[in-house]
Amino acid sequence: MNKKELKQMFLEKYGESNRSYRVFNAPGRVNLIGEHLDYNGGYVLPAALEFGTTLVIRERDDQKISFSSTNFSFESTISLQDDFEKSGQWIDYPVGVINELHKLGYRFSKGYDLLYHGDIPNGSGLSSSASIEVVTAYALLVMEGHETDTIEIAKLSQKAENLFVGVNSGIMDQFAVANGRKDHAILLMCDTLEYDLVPFHTGAYKIVIANTKKQRGLVDSKYNERRSECDQALEILKKELSTLSFLAQLRPEQFISLQDHIKDETIRRRAQHVVEENQRVLDSVEALKKGDLETFGQYMNQSHDSLRYLYEVTGDELDAMVEEFQRQSGTLGARMTGAGFGGCTVALVHEDEVDRVIKEVAHHYEARTGLKPEFYVCGVGQGVHEVKEML
Ligand code: GLA
Repeated sequence: MNKKELKQMFLEKYGESNRSYRVFNAPGRVNLIGEHLDYNGGYVLPAALEFGTTLVIRERDDQKISFSSTNFSFESTISLQDDFEKSGQWIDYPVGVINELHKLGYRFSKGYDLLYHGDIPNGSGLSSSASIEVVTAYALLVMEGHETDTIEIAKLSQKAENLFVGVNSGIMDQFAVANGRKDHAILLMCDTLEYDLVPFHTGAYKIVIANTKKQRGLVDSKYNERRSECDQALEILKKELSTLSFLAQLRPEQFISLQDHIKDETIRRRAQHVVEENQRVLDSVEALKKGDLETFGQYMNQSHDSLRYLYEVTGDELDAMVEEFQRQSGTLGARMTGAGFGGCTVALVHEDEVDRVIKEVAHHYEARTGLKPEFYVCGVGQGVHEVKEML
């Protein structure tokens, strides 16, 4: 949908007015490495995408907020004076954010008409929900003349998702969407929320994201299961090391000396993934700083293996996609990205080979799984921002 069409659609839904529009955008995210580490207090390395959610917003005269979207048919209007209730629809994401803003003491001076347009495929694991949350918080704060602290916005958006929507996710997605910087990855320490922007210059290599099109049906229950397995590992290891507050605090050599205290083999493997993946993120950043993309690609491959065999969050489709990429010359590395159990993979592919690699991978993946994948060749985009030039 282009800008003109979006403006037209806004007018069709909400009618003409002498009040002016403003337009905001929040990107999706891809996690380059460091999976299932955010809720274990470790390092992650996500980057903002060049596509995301655009929000057109205009003031209205009453104390109501209207929601509509080009992606979903469900539309609704809520009153800012009533209690906010869950509807089981997509608007739970923005309503959850408004609820959090209220809890933080923000009161709106007026109502708003909102139209969302997302170009992140829903359910693909590229954080369409985080982009809706973050763009809502940012836009409303700007409209009301408040400061926009993008770290606070990430935190309140995560709370909206955890407490209102009821999905127990970590901070990574909202943080990346709120704080991403063009051509940079974000090295985020999830325990303290300290972060560094790491230049992500891929030279002749492109980021290729592949959507397996596998429905992520089990994602919530399995995600919560992994979180509780990590909690169990932490409880056991805390008895040996009382200063331990997060699993990812353990260095690999410490883990080796403590691991026998975890009797359950499954729980031990989960903890091993967390500790080793955390180290891999730090090693990856060193490789990127030296411009050594080959080594970075190897870490991506190792990360996938760890998620496949130790953390067990991949599944046939993600494994097939990653294997097909890894078989291609011109690919430096490939791995699943996000929660797993479906969704997307990310690979680094030489620009001269991208078209051929995508064709081959698509062909073999479809033959193996019966699913028609989608591919996005993209660069690293900007975190949440106002789109000044748009309407
Ligand atoms: C999902 C969650 C994130 C993170 C990843 C796994 O995307 O929303 O918080 O835990 O899974 O790394």
